[in-house]
Amino acid sequence: MSVSERRGSDRRGSGISSRRPSIDPSRLVPMDKVTHVAGGDDFNVVFIGAGNIMFGSDEGPWNHSFRLEHKLGRRLKVVALIDPAIERATAVLQKKCDSFVVSAYQDTRVFKTLEDFVRTMSSRERPRAIIVGSPPMFRGSSTPGRDIELQILNHFPGVAMFIEKPIATGPVDEIDDAYRIAKIINDTKTICSVGYMLRYLKAVQMMKQIIQENNLTVMSTIARYACAYQAIAKPDWWDKSKSAGPIIEQGTHFCDLSRYFGGEVDISSVQAHSLEWHENAGRLSKMSIDETNIASENRIPRVTAATWKYDSGAVGSFTHVVALQGTDYSCELEVYADGYSMKLVNPYVLPVLYIRKPGDDNETTIRFHDDDPFFSEISNLIDIIEDIEEDPEAAQILSSYDDAVRTYEFTWAIRDASERSRDASSKRAAESY
Ligand SMILES: NC(=O)c1ccc[n+]([C@@H]2O[C@H](COP(=O)([O-])OP(=O)(O)OC[C@H]3O[C@@H](n4cnc5c(N)ncnc54)[C@H](O)[C@@H]3O)[C@@H](O)[C@H]2O)c1
Repeated sequence: MSVSERRGSDRRGSGISSRRPSIDPSRLVPMDKVTHVAGGDDFNVVFIGAGNIMFGSDEGPWNHSFRLEHKLGRRLKVVALIDPAIERATAVLQKKCDSFVVSAYQDTRVFKTLEDFVRTMSSRERPRAIIVGSPPMFRGSSTPGRDIELQILNHFPGVAMFIEKPIATGPVDEIDDAYRIAKIINDTKTICSVGYMLRYLKAVQMMKQIIQENNLTVMSTIARYACAYQAIAKPDWWDKSKSAGPIIEQGTHFCDLSRYFGGEVDISSVQAHSLEWHENAGRLSKMSIDETNIASENRIPRVTAATWKYDSGAVGSFTHVVALQGTDYSCELEVYADGYSMKLVNPYVLPVLYIRKPGDDNETTIRFHDDDPFFSEISNLIDIIEDIEEDPEAAQILSSYDDAVRTYEFTWAIRDASERSRDASSKRAAESY
């Protein structure tokens, strides 16, 4: 598939169109301002993964089950919850059944694998959507056990999918495998949305609107993502052999946003440097895990800084920093075009957009209270599944599988470039010693 063929995807998250998808920001409304989708028919859903992204945690605002409950109301029927950790799955279900959303979960069955569910599924239980929130090491490939998308396409042709980011964390040479999965999704016109929810921020859609209405060409994207490492207590996150490192697992959100504004990246142009865990400046005093349990070659860098060219000629840069303590992250994305700058600040907590336009050297500041991109992401997916009208202003899936594979490839290119630079500098140091 050529780069130009890969560019853009239709509003259903499958197939190719020349239109770069965006949503009128005024259509992104908070959860308490929408009415449930009309109709009395059940909307069957299968959840894959019973963890934080699906049922929430103290670590952040994510919680897909909660958004689906609000979007679908009494129509939501979770027919199956798939998770090898049966106890965890049973415990989260019990909590739901003890609450006012019991009608969605009272008949949910728990299985270790999707195949176990398929074997015993009745025709009444056939899902309309499958929400995948298992860890990325179990997805995005054709290797048995890590091939959930292919299993879904095989057992449930025509059923919509939602897949969490990143699409995989396997070895770099499996990226072609992920492109093959993307092609099957496109060829079968399967509705598919990937969890790059920051694209659904009102602020991000306002930036898109400014670019479109003023016919701007992006000249540069400058992104910075500083996480609060003290709050990251999952040992896997700190282990490159498990989660592939902080660019592929976490920085991916900002690499994706950079691509959303800058367009396709010239992968061969990517350069990067890192500050490694063993370097003096890389020592961290408040880690909540014991890093000595992780093999030294798998420990993550503390800083990764990358630059690249977009196919358009524009230049992008991204710095990921593992340095802050406490809980709040500090993240910013700047987008420049002739006469314009747009700076998105604090997208996870309270998004603020600073806009400078021709004719005024002062920035206008817009604060986005009450914005819930996780809800907008789920809401648009459900509307696409239900919608049969061809309304050009209708819901959009803003992150297709194919597009998400390109972000994945890009993040691998940053990691590879930083490791090449790290190895070259160690070699230079050894030679001069
Ligand atoms: N978009 C976001 O902001 C956001 C936020 C949090 C997590 N995520 C993503 O969601 C995914 C899951 O993260 P999490 O925080 O929920 O992890 P988690 O560890 O809390 O939960 C994952 C669950 O999946 C289960 N699981 C393991 N293997 C499985 C398999 N083969 N099939 C089904 N279930 C399996 C585990 O037992 C666990 O219960 C990751 O890709 C992560 O990057 C995205």
